[in-house]
Amino acid sequence: MSSVIGTVVCLIIAVAYTHAAAMSSTKAAIISVNTAIKFQELDGFSVSQAFQRADDIFGKEGLTSKNTKYVLDLLFSIDRGAGFSILRNGIGSSNSSDSNFMNSIEPFSPGLPSAKPHYSWDRNDSGQFPLAQEAYDRGLVRLYGNAWSAPGYMKTNGDENNGGYLCGVTNTSCPSGSWMQAYADYLVQWARFYKQSGVKVTNLGFLNEPEFAASYAGMLSDGIQAAEFIRILAKTIKASGMDLAINYCDGIGWEEQEQMMAGLQAGPDPAENYLSVVTGHGYNSVPNFPLSTKKKTWVTEWADLSGGFTPYTFFNTGATGEGMTWARNIQVALLDANVSGFFYWIGAENSTTDSGLINLIGDEVIPSKRFWAFAQFSRFARPGARRVEATSSAPLLYVSSFLNNDGSIVTQAINNATEAYDISLKVHTSARIKNARPYVTNNANDLTVLAPLRVATDGTFKTTIPAHSLMSFVCS
Ligand SMILES: *[C@@H]1O[C@H](CO)[C@@H](O)[C@H](O)[C@H]1NC(C)=O
Ligand SMILES: *[C@@H]1O[C@H](CO)[C@@H](O)[C@H](O)[C@H]1NC(C)=O
Ligand SMILES: *[C@@H]1O[C@H](CO)[C@@H](O)[C@H](O)[C@H]1NC(C)=O
Ligand SMILES: *[C@@H]1O[C@H](CO)[C@@H](O)[C@H](O)[C@H]1NC(C)=O
Ligand SMILES: *[C@@H]1O[C@H](CO)[C@@H](O)[C@H](O)[C@H]1NC(C)=O
Ligand SMILES: *[C@@H]1O[C@H](CO)[C@@H](O)[C@H](O)[C@H]1NC(C)=O
Repeated sequence: MSSVIGTVVCLIIAVAYTHAAAMSSTKAAIISVNTAIKFQELDGFSVSQAFQRADDIFGKEGLTSKNTKYVLDLLFSIDRGAGFSILRNGIGSSNSSDSNFMNSIEPFSPGLPSAKPHYSWDRNDSGQFPLAQEAYDRGLVRLYGNAWSAPGYMKTNGDENNGGYLCGVTNTSCPSGSWMQAYADYLVQWARFYKQSGVKVTNLGFLNEPEFAASYAGMLSDGIQAAEFIRILAKTIKASGMDLAINYCDGIGWEEQEQMMAGLQAGPDPAENYLSVVTGHGYNSVPNFPLSTKKKTWVTEWADLSGGFTPYTFFNTGATGEGMTWARNIQVALLDANVSGFFYWIGAENSTTDSGLINLIGDEVIPSKRFWAFAQFSRFARPGARRVEATSSAPLLYVSSFLNNDGSIVTQAINNATEAYDISLKVHTSARIKNARPYVTNNANDLTVLAPLRVATDGTFKTTIPAHSLMSFVCS
């Protein structure tokens, strides 16, 4: 009897040992999502095709019409691509379409600010008008019109380039007088041209990186000067009867944008009251803290402007252009900076740098791993969703989660460990979850859909997240 029991015990130990050895390349982790704890509302994800990058999509550098449609689908279709829900169009200030210039709707001065303006509209807007039409056809929700600069004749330096201020704001003195009302009229007219041609502009911005005198179009401003113009722009929009939200002011970095907030909040009639969205970029300082405002915030521009050509790498070394890096940049902005929108600089361009999500080389289309990282968020976490609490038990497994208006719950999990994680994910929610659909992007996969997972009655499901991968779980 006793020897038989001894054999059975040994056998059990051997089986347990073999099982442990087979599992040693994975670790265990627990992810918990709680839809009762809600944070900011999501407006969505976005790109820009300013400075004639829209024309790259429409074949300027050799893309054929079949691939034009493919690129438009990748950017804006929810079923076939990332489903970007916002587009940022540049409001041109140039007097021609030479080089990469965005031509203005009033390229030449009418003489004085009070003179009747000489507007002209080409229904093209450097390719951005037809782009907006194509994007709306595929499900776009918001169109953000953003001027980098006023036309040169409205500015202290008489030039759309090289900094300069809008004539009329504090500390400026221009022989021709104040152009503040004329600039407000001009921005509203740009949106009116779109509207008259059947395309709705939802948001208007009047500055880009106002701390920086760029050699290209740009205009300087501090917070107080911007506040003076916002009050005039708000009155002008109201009088126009158009439904336009004001964005402010695309600071060059998140900290630089924070420094402009005091000017907006100052005085008996704070300009902040007229704003819809506070907007900043990620270049000079990273969006990893909430701005001092109760308004919604968007990261309206960021990109890798200096990295090598790394479209095929989700993870290799952690380089600035890799998919993993951008997945985490998006997630940190959503979690730590409380943003409702996240925009990459260029959607698609004919270029072999890391500025674009999609590289076009002649007629070749290369969606980068950065693009698929965006799509893992953008396709499933939709406008109107609320961010909800998500926690992970493992230090290199980063999680975020959203409750969509249709009741679906989407969780993004970034695994930056060298091992896979066997996870148990529990969704705490009042509704019964029946289905969990996993999608994965890593060096071998581009938003690959995997078999649905079985969800227990308490909302728990189990699966494995491979090393150096991004997974999205869509629960309904
Ligand atoms: C057009 O604008 C450029 C600056 O972008 C300026 O150098 C040039 O003089 C302008 N041309 C005319 C005809 O105003
Ligand atoms: C739109 O403008 C661009 C210049 O930005 C030009 O290359 C293109 O031919 C124009 N398209 C149409 C349809 O006029
Ligand atoms: C105007 O210039 C003075 C002197 O340089 C400066 O102290 C002040 O902050 C400026 N005001 C604005 C609104 O920029
Ligand atoms: C987050 O943003 C929302 C607006 O979307 C705002 O109401 C809330 O106060 C912000 N929270 C923090 C911590 O800044
Ligand atoms: C991922 O881990 C690597 C080290 O293996 C590190 O260099 C990189 O910065 C990490 N990336 C993120 C987004 O945390
Ligand atoms: C566009 O791509 C083609 C093919 O690689 C190249 O010959 C051309 O120089 C590119 N154009 C620009 C503006 O980079």
